[in-house]
Amino acid sequence: MVDVILGLQWGDEGKGKIVDYFAPQYNIIARFQGGPNAGHTLYVEDKKIVLHQIPSGIFHQDKINIIGNGVVLDPVTLKRECDTVASFGIDVKKNLFIAQRTNLIIPTHRALDKASELQKAESKIGSTLKGIGPAYMDKTGRNALRVGDLLDKSFITNYIKLRLKHQKLLDNFHFIEEISAWEEEFFEAIEFLRTLNIVNGEYFINNKISEGKRVLAEGAQGSMLDIDFGTFPFVTSSSTISAGVCTGLGIAPQKINQVLGVTKAYCTRVGGGPFPTELDNAIGERIRKTGNEFGATTGRPRRCGWIDLVALKYTCMLNGVTQVVMTKADVLDAFEELKVCTAYKINGEEKAEVPFQMTRVTIEPVYKCFTGWNRESTKIKEAVLLPSDMSTYIAFINQYIGAPVKYVSNGPGREQIITL
Ligand code: GDP
Ligand code: IMO
Ligand code: MG
Repeated sequence: MVDVILGLQWGDEGKGKIVDYFAPQYNIIARFQGGPNAGHTLYVEDKKIVLHQIPSGIFHQDKINIIGNGVVLDPVTLKRECDTVASFGIDVKKNLFIAQRTNLIIPTHRALDKASELQKAESKIGSTLKGIGPAYMDKTGRNALRVGDLLDKSFITNYIKLRLKHQKLLDNFHFIEEISAWEEEFFEAIEFLRTLNIVNGEYFINNKISEGKRVLAEGAQGSMLDIDFGTFPFVTSSSTISAGVCTGLGIAPQKINQVLGVTKAYCTRVGGGPFPTELDNAIGERIRKTGNEFGATTGRPRRCGWIDLVALKYTCMLNGVTQVVMTKADVLDAFEELKVCTAYKINGEEKAEVPFQMTRVTIEPVYKCFTGWNRESTKIKEAVLLPSDMSTYIAFINQYIGAPVKYVSNGPGREQIITL
C-alpha cells in the first residue's frame, strides 16, 4: 500500500522532517511532483540538510528513494544534492531511482521563468526561478525532454531543437540571459545522471507494491499552491494534492491508504498571492523570528500569520486527509494569545468556504481567540505532558477540520515529535 505525506498550507509545513521521521516504517520513499522549487529541511547527525528533489528518506541506508515521473528534474541541482548525500556515506547509486518519464528542466527553462516573472511586474507570482512553470508548460505542451531520452542518441539534436524554441520565446520577451555557464554545468550533470538508476518507474513501483513493499509518497509545495485548487494564479505548476500521487508515480487510487497532512500551528507563505490571515505587523515579525521563517530554497522571508481553518478544512477535503501532523507548535510557546481563523467575511457575509478567486474579493478573517500555553514545549516527549492550553487549541482544530491531529512536532529535531 501507499501512504502519503503532503502539505496542507502554502508549503514549508515541515514535510521533510516528517517524511524523514516516518521513513523507517517504509521500504520506498517517492517524490511525485514539483522539482527544485522545493526545499525540505532535515537534521542528520545534527547537521542541517536541505533536499530539493531527492526524497527525504535518503538518509536511511536501506530505503529505496524514487523520483517519480510527475517531478520536473534539474540535473544540476540533483548532482549537487547527490554530492551532499554521498558525503554522509549514502550510496545514491544504490538507493536512488529515477523514473524514465520524469521531465527535465533545461537551462532555458530557468531563463524563461525569469523572463515571465519580469513581464508580470507587479503581479509576479514570486516564483523560485527554478524553471518550474516553463518545464511543466513543455510537458503539457508536449515538447519536453525526459530522463529516458538521455539514453537515446537523438538527445542532443532534440535538446538543440527545444533550446531554439525557447530562444524564440525569450526573444519575444526581449529577454537576454547568458546561459553558456549554465549549459556547461547542465551537460556535466547530464553525464552524471546517466550513471544513476534510470528505471521504468510505473512498473518498478507497482512490482514493489505487489511484493508487499510499503511506499511513502512525499509531497512538495502545499495544497494551497496546487495548480487547480490553490490560489491561482499564485500557485505552482503541479498537482500538489493526493490525486497527484497517482499520475506522478503511475499507481492506481485504490492503492492509497493513509494521507497524512502536515500543517504548521500557524501559517506562512512565501512569494506573492492572497493570504487572508497574514500578520503584516509586530506579531507576524515575532512569528518569523521565533520560527526562523526564511525560505529553505531562496532565503526569502516568509510571510507569517495565524492558522487558517477555512483553508485547512478545504485542503483536508481535497486530499482525503486521514491524519494531521501539526508542526512548529513550539514556535507559539511564548505567545499570550493565539488566534485561529474560522470564517472569511466577504461583503459583510461570513463564509466557511474558500472562494473561487481570492484575489477578486476582500477577505476579512473572523477569528476565535485562545489563551497561549506560555510554556516551553520543546522537551516534551509524551502527549499527557502537553500544556492543557495546547490541547484545547488542538481539540478545536480537530473538531473544526474533521480530521484528527495525531502528531505534534515540537522542534526541528528528528526526535521532537509527540504522538497524540
Ligand atoms: P518543508 O518544505 O515542508 O519540508 O519545510 P521547510 O524545510 O521548508 O521548512 C520547515 C522549517 O521548520 C525547517 O527549517 C525545519 O527544520 C523546521 N521545523 C520542522 N518542524 C519543526 C518544529 O516542529 N519546530 C520548529 N521549531 N521547527 C521545525
Ligand atoms: P516546499 O516543498 C513554499 C511558491 C513560490 C511561488 C509559487 C510558484 O519546500 O514546501 P514556482 O517556483 O513553483 O513557480 O513558484 O510557489 N513555492 C513554494 N513555497 N514552499 C515550496 O516548496 C514552494 N515551491 C514553490 O514561492 O510563490
Ligand atoms: Mg520548504
